[in-house]
Amino acid sequence: MSGMVGASGRVLFYDSGIGGLSVLGAVRRRCPGLCFSYLFDHEGFPYGELTEREVVDRCVRNLTSMVSRDRFALVVVACNTASTVALPELRRCLDLPVVGVVPAVKPAARLSRLRRIGLLATHGTISRGYTQELISRFASGCEVISVGSARLVELAEAKLRGTVPDPGEISAEISPFLSPDGSPRVDVLVLGCTHFPFLAPEIGTILPGVRLLDSGDAIGRRVAGLLPQDAGCSEVAAGDRAHYVGEMPEQARSQYSGIFSGLGFVSCERFVP
Ligand code: DGL
Repeated sequence: MSGMVGASGRVLFYDSGIGGLSVLGAVRRRCPGLCFSYLFDHEGFPYGELTEREVVDRCVRNLTSMVSRDRFALVVVACNTASTVALPELRRCLDLPVVGVVPAVKPAARLSRLRRIGLLATHGTISRGYTQELISRFASGCEVISVGSARLVELAEAKLRGTVPDPGEISAEISPFLSPDGSPRVDVLVLGCTHFPFLAPEIGTILPGVRLLDSGDAIGRRVAGLLPQDAGCSEVAAGDRAHYVGEMPEQARSQYSGIFSGLGFVSCERFVP
């Protein structure tokens, strides 16, 4: 389904963890009247280490269940790993617009003067046919250095939950973007995982002068374009709500609740699909 959508101003965001909040922030800046639900698959995290079938099945199960329970104007799959594999099936199963997030390879290729760009994403995203196609369609004139990392996803999620990341660990993960003399080999780096903008300050220190690009603003524009200009939340039970799939120890629950309430969400509850 595409085109303009109906009046309900609630948008559902989906990710394996809370990396999708980097996209939600960009959408909120563009559409301040909307309200949001944020569903994250804690049980399936990290998606980058699952098989394609597992990712698709989890996305379809969790999202069809959530969408049959509450009313949404549209769904944002705020996860590159899921979007690069699950969008066709999600669009078949869900009777509302589904916006995906894929690595910003096209603008990166346009911006690079060195004609050498980096792509930092999960192992899953790097290996997908979708991503290879994106590179050959839009960055064929560039050398693309691709690096997959599960560790950076964990470090970003942990940072949001209060653990300061070790810069040495981040350096080790992104060392393929550095020359032996320590200077950056690329001038543009695509942050192809929605968790990574949360590590942008650390990555920027290790790769000085490199332009870091994520897809957040593009998704903000896309969502704003799909919703009526005056879209807002008219529900009685308005307010942003977070939901997670899977069990969580008390300490993790209270960390996640604290993050969401700091962002103005009214609840953070377990969702059983
Ligand atoms: N934030 C996700 C992405 O954009 C998923 C990371 C993961 O769970 O591996 O790829």
